[in-house]
Amino acid sequence: MRTHYCGLIDESLVGQTVILCGWVNKTRLQSHVAFIDLRDHEGLAQVVVERENADAFAVAGEVGYEYCLRVTGTIRARLSVNDKLKTGTVELLAEKVEILNAAKDLPFALHENPNEDMRMTYRYLDLRRPEMQAMMRKRIKLVQALRRYLDARGFQDIETPILTKATPEGARDYLVPSRVHPGQFYALPQSPQLFKQILMMAGFDRYYQIARCFRDEDLRADRQPEFTQLDLEFAFVEEKDVQDFVEELIRHVFREVQGVELDAAFPRMTWEEAMRRFGSDKPDLRIALELVDVADALRHVEFKVFAEPANDPAGRVAALRVPGAASLSRKEIDTLTEFVGRYGAKGLAWLKVEDLARGREGINSPVAKFLDDAALDGLLKATGAQTGDIVFVGAGKWKTVTDFMGALRLKVGRDRGLVENTWKPLWVTDFPMFEYDEEEQRYVALHHPFTAPKVDDIADLKANAAIAVSRGYDMVLNGNEIGGGSIRIHRPEMQSAVFELLGIGAEEAEMKFGFLLKALKFGAPPHGGLAFGIDRIAALMAGTDSIRDVIAFPKTTSAQDLMTDAPSPVGAAQLKELHIAGMAE
Ligand code: AMO
Ligand code: AMP
Repeated sequence: MRTHYCGLIDESLVGQTVILCGWVNKTRLQSHVAFIDLRDHEGLAQVVVERENADAFAVAGEVGYEYCLRVTGTIRARLSVNDKLKTGTVELLAEKVEILNAAKDLPFALHENPNEDMRMTYRYLDLRRPEMQAMMRKRIKLVQALRRYLDARGFQDIETPILTKATPEGARDYLVPSRVHPGQFYALPQSPQLFKQILMMAGFDRYYQIARCFRDEDLRADRQPEFTQLDLEFAFVEEKDVQDFVEELIRHVFREVQGVELDAAFPRMTWEEAMRRFGSDKPDLRIALELVDVADALRHVEFKVFAEPANDPAGRVAALRVPGAASLSRKEIDTLTEFVGRYGAKGLAWLKVEDLARGREGINSPVAKFLDDAALDGLLKATGAQTGDIVFVGAGKWKTVTDFMGALRLKVGRDRGLVENTWKPLWVTDFPMFEYDEEEQRYVALHHPFTAPKVDDIADLKANAAIAVSRGYDMVLNGNEIGGGSIRIHRPEMQSAVFELLGIGAEEAEMKFGFLLKALKFGAPPHGGLAFGIDRIAALMAGTDSIRDVIAFPKTTSAQDLMTDAPSPVGAAQLKELHIAGMAE
């Protein structure tokens, strides 16, 4: 049908007859000549149709934007070279122009930055846009590079079921009703976690899969209800074995796909340190601002807002110094106060250091009057504040303060242009084993229930559950959690003990995870692994804030596919067959 791609014609073809196919990007009709910019997967070519060629000229007069064409002609050098175009030194002088298909009543012009709903409804048009093509191709290159690396190192690519039993990863399950077993359901996997562990027990040693995962959770720019992991598992390993391997893998793909050399050794930080210094378990290290604990300086003050959390082991008083930001206006500070309010802050104290040398006189702050000299001095010293800086102080429950001050750090860093233009990967390690869920009044697993604790002793774990540390780790890049994993529990007694601590009784454990507990009894090897979020890595590489840009057919934030109109109602007959009552239209 065609001999060349539009975007690949060049001077070596001058004088040759070629056939190009593609879409009309633009037309310029003049009295004696028509210009058509024809676009395909590889780029643009200029087609010239002269009036002397009456048939072709007539067809050129009919074509419109996004028409699909086939053009036969001769390549010739251009009189005026277009430097902006890859093919800008040549053009196609048309002999024959064929309309393969018209494009009538386009809902939007591709270059016009259509709104999100339009893009999703007409995703095929959205995807025609060159920037979308480039972003999708980044993802394809990433996946190819990952596969090549792992295939060359003896990893076994094994598929695991999609119709399966629930694997808890902290989200709700998508369920599929069974027709042949009335009242029973399959769950779509939140991840292949248990299957990959069982593959290690089955002797496969090193596994990977580009795996689709399904999670019914609240969606955001970096979360989709179905997304893709690079899922990895290794037998006979400890933390460092897994981390060293995958760190090299990530370095390799960044080199190959992005042309970027990442740090020789990613920094490692415990979860405790990340929360203390950055107010986040996925710190963005491109921003040089840090939180400082200032409870010591404020324990003795009368001002209850500070003194109470400063004296409470479950409280926190944290300061954030922003260099040169004493010039922030009252309105800007009010906006920040409102912003932290969304994270549960009851207020946000601030001190502008207008002149450090003048002591109290040089401080402009609504809370300075509540602080004696020792407290004020201690607070300024702890943060290292200088003339011209602002110091924000947050006080309250440890978790709340950590969250809102961490969010404030990011917001101020972004607003003030303090985000360094670079790549900052790191490992976050030593996560707590459990987190207390106030609503459910029980512990939940911070990673997942199959993550091994640091302690080997079951009695020790049970006695110290609230402070138990896990063998879980996350890889973080520029403030995004791109991967998470752990060394797993490989002894059945420990697995049962962890289920028990999570409030999963013996009977429930047997019903939900009996197959795992059984498999662990037959010589399960020590094992561990990790899964990367492919969509997130691709989005970072493509330089977009939304993973939707690197997923061909993503869902909206309300989990809809606007193009196919899913989810959608089904007929009564189908519901009946599935033993589901009452919801038919
Ligand atoms: P985890 O739940 O941390 O671990 O997931 C691993 C990585 O997958 C990505 N990710 C997502 N990406 C897009 N949309 C989502 N809704 C979404 N949820 C997670 C993140 C995350 O780091 N089975 C374990 C892995 C293991 O222990 O080996 C797991 O699924 O980048
Ligand atoms: P109030 O006692 O609520 O009038 O607050 C006095 C000052 O303390 C105001 O500047 C508040 O913004 C600040 N403030 C109140 N609650 C907090 C808090 N949890 N953390 C930091 N500052 C606070």
